[in-house]
Parts: sequence; C-alpha cells; structure tokens
Amino acid sequence: MARHLLAIDQGTTSTRAILFAADGTPVMEARRDLRQIYPAEGWVEHDGEDIWQAVLDTVREVLARAGLAARDIAAIGITNQRETTLVWERRTGRLLHHAIVWQDRRTAETCARLRADGAETLVAARTGLVVDPYFSGTKLAWVLQHVPEARLLAAQGELAFGTVDSFLLWRLTGGAVHATDATNAARTLLFDIHRGVWDEDLLALLDVPASLLPEVRPSAGDFGATLPDLFGAAIPVRGIAGDQQAAGVGQACLAPGAIKATYGTGCFVLVNTGDKAIASRHRLLSTVALDLGGRRTYALEGSIFVAGAAVQWLRDGLHLFKGAAETEALARAARPQAQVHMVPAFTGLGAPHWDPEARGAILGLTRDTGIAEIVRATLESVAFQTRDLMEAIGNDLAAEGRPRPASLRVDGGMVVNDWAMQFLADMLGIPVERPKVTETTALGAAFLAGLGCGLFAEPAEISAAWRLERRFEPRMSADERAARWQGWQAAVSRVLSHGG
Ligand code: G3P
Repeated sequence: MARHLLAIDQGTTSTRAILFAADGTPVMEARRDLRQIYPAEGWVEHDGEDIWQAVLDTVREVLARAGLAARDIAAIGITNQRETTLVWERRTGRLLHHAIVWQDRRTAETCARLRADGAETLVAARTGLVVDPYFSGTKLAWVLQHVPEARLLAAQGELAFGTVDSFLLWRLTGGAVHATDATNAARTLLFDIHRGVWDEDLLALLDVPASLLPEVRPSAGDFGATLPDLFGAAIPVRGIAGDQQAAGVGQACLAPGAIKATYGTGCFVLVNTGDKAIASRHRLLSTVALDLGGRRTYALEGSIFVAGAAVQWLRDGLHLFKGAAETEALARAARPQAQVHMVPAFTGLGAPHWDPEARGAILGLTRDTGIAEIVRATLESVAFQTRDLMEAIGNDLAAEGRPRPASLRVDGGMVVNDWAMQFLADMLGIPVERPKVTETTALGAAFLAGLGCGLFAEPAEISAAWRLERRFEPRMSADERAARWQGWQAAVSRVLSHGG
C-alpha cells in the first residue's frame, strides 16, 4: 500500500521534492537552486520553465534515490513561494512572460496611484492586504498591459493566470486542472477572504478578466492527479498551501493564538486568529491560514522581505564567507561595543513600513569595523525586524482583548544558528522554540496531502507529532533590549523614502 507522502516545495531560491514517511519523518530530499533574473533595478523574475523542469527533476530524483515508484506515493502536496505571478496560454501551455516574483517592485507606481485614488479601504476590507507591489494583482495587470498579445488572448478566454502552485498543478495534470487553494488566492489582491470568492469589484479595479482565474479549492482535498507519463504512474495531488501557511501547519499552529516565524528568503510571522479575520490596526496583513473543507481559519501576518537573503548577499555578493554556517562563529567574534546596523531593505520594506522605495544601508561604520561586525549586524537585523512584527502583532491582539504571544515557534534554514536564535529571544523578551523538524513548510504540505487522501483523519494529529528540539530563553536585561531596539529604529528611519 502507498504509505509515503511527497511534498513539492517550490521556494524563491530553490525547488525541492521531499519524501515523508506516513508518520511525518523526512526520508529523503532532492533540490535544485533556482536562477534569479534581475532585468532592471527592483525587478525580480524567474523563468517558469526552470521551475517546471526543477520540479520534474527533483521528483524523479527523489523517487529513484529512495528506490520508490509512483505507486508508493499516497499523495503529493504542493507548497510554494506565494504571490509570484505566471500567465500562460491555455491551448499550448506557453508562458507569456517570466514569472514576476513577489519581491518585484515594478508596480510601485501603480500602487501609489491606487492608494492616491483611495483604493486602500476597499482592498483592505475585502482582501485583508495593503496596496503594495508585493501581491499578485498589480503584477498580473502589468503583464496584461505590457505583453502585446495578452489582452487579445484574454478576451478569447485563452489566457490563464496562476501563482506557482496553480501553474505547477496545471502542468502536472496536463492542463486538466486549473485550480489553487484559498491560502494562495488570498495573496492575489483579487480574493475576498471573508466570502471565499474572487471579488468582482477588485477585478474591475485592476482590469483583470475573471476568465483568467483558477478555481479556488480547500487546501486539503482533490486537485486531480499527475499525468501518468511524468513519473511512471499517476500520483494524486491532495494538498496545496502557500509556503508560509504550510509552515504554520508543520508547526502545528492550528489553534487561535499559536504563532510561528519562518526564516527563508524573507521572514513571515503568522499568528492564528481562528474563525475571525482581524483587521490590523498596525499595518499587518489579515490572511487565510487554512481552508479545510470549507472551514476557513485566518491569520494575522507580518511579512519581512529579506532575512536569509541578506546572509546570502553577504556570502554571494560580498564574498565575506563561504558558507552560512560560518556566520555563527563570526557573530560571536564581533566586537561587543560595535554599533553597526544593517537595514536589508534591498527590495523595499514590508510590514509594518510598506515602503517599496526604501533601499538597504549599513550604518555606524568605524575604522575598526570588520566582516564579523557586519555579519553580526545582519543577523541582528533579522531579529530586530521580527521584533517590529511581534510588537505590531501583540498590539493588534491586545486591541481584540486577546493575549500577546508568550513564545514564538521558529523554522526555516536560518534557525540552526544558535547565536541568532538566542539574540532573537533576547530581542523579543519571550522564549523562542525550535522544533526537531525544521523543514516545517514541506512537512505541512505533506500533512495536508495526507489529510486530503485520508491517511490522516484530522488536523489534531499534526499537533501530537510536533516535537521541541530547543527552547531559547531571553537573557538580556530589559534596559539593554530597549536601547538596542531604539538603535535599530533610528537606523530604519534613515532609509525610509518618506523620511520615517
Ligand atoms: O510571500 C513570499 C513567501 O511565500 C516566500 O517564501 O520561503 O521563498 O522566502 P520564501
């Protein structure tokens, strides 16, 4: 009997296929780095064909290395970088343009215009989002405006839009299923998160024809099956969720108040708010946490665009070290008195500033600043940004009469760094909990697939499987914490385009 689950985790910088045993134990992984394309300042693209090829390669590789056949896989779960926008021709599957990545800022002016026209109230009320180039809607509108044949094909009903999950599903099923799930739909700027439907007013606002849109389905359930010739036999696809929401599942954040931070390219903090979509008073997002068979739960989300990507930049851009693992020793070796700040606003700033025009800076350099101090400042910037989000989240929850978070679960590549996690606990003033399995995004997708194919009976089974690996307790004094955070805020105010 098929007892394995396969997660396809298509992230911003890599594509991975990860096999899990039915009890959630990771068995094997195959991975390909994803080429980043920077056609202009502030623009970020991926070639959808690279993404597709990497999915085929990693799934085939992981099956071969594990000695398994397609029939041994009970179901596939797809999880993905969210908001990234693809448009293709239905008849041929041809992509009309490179994928426009979530980090891409090309629609900053469109967003400024929409804000000036007063669109923010409508957008926030229906989607829980802010008007920012981050989301898919204005990227899709850009493709429709700038690719000459797009409007004509759209008018003929020949054009399809999808986030990465939807594009992969369409290809995996040979064009049979054009669908997405509610967590991904919630990131498009076109989806009413309260009614759970595409919103006619928002489609009109951005001039997007409804014929382009995928069907929105629950996150665990029937998404069709892969074409038999792709992997030797058809494999059912039974789960889809955006990567941050999937990480929430993998972290067993299923009850109201449960909170996690995922450190990948960016950092995304999501707190489960249960059946209620809370409208943020502090410029956070209100978004769909999960849709299980028509029961939607919601989350408040703080989104930081650059976390792990800043460490990657130090390594690949500045060549300060060879591997990210070296950053821990470097941070420990930095001069304690150094007051260097790194503000990684490479693609603007996300929550709570939402400033697409801000750009990065390193401040407080002195003659004796070296690599160690810059590395430490970069790791610190991740904790400071998380603190910004946690303040906003705490305030939003308190305004609803709910308790502030008492601890934070963390996951993603960067959390193996003990120094960074200790500094994070120090900056937040609450314990930071690192689970045994830090690949929680893929685990969440596998779990949704398991729910969708009936291998698991109910979501509570994931909570029972969650295991703590280490808890970092805050050790810094309250005075030092406050002084450090003030230093950070002063640094941020120097890069804001609107002067803070
Ligand atoms: O919203 C963007 C997010 O989904 C990207 O995640 O893990 O690729 O940084 P990641």
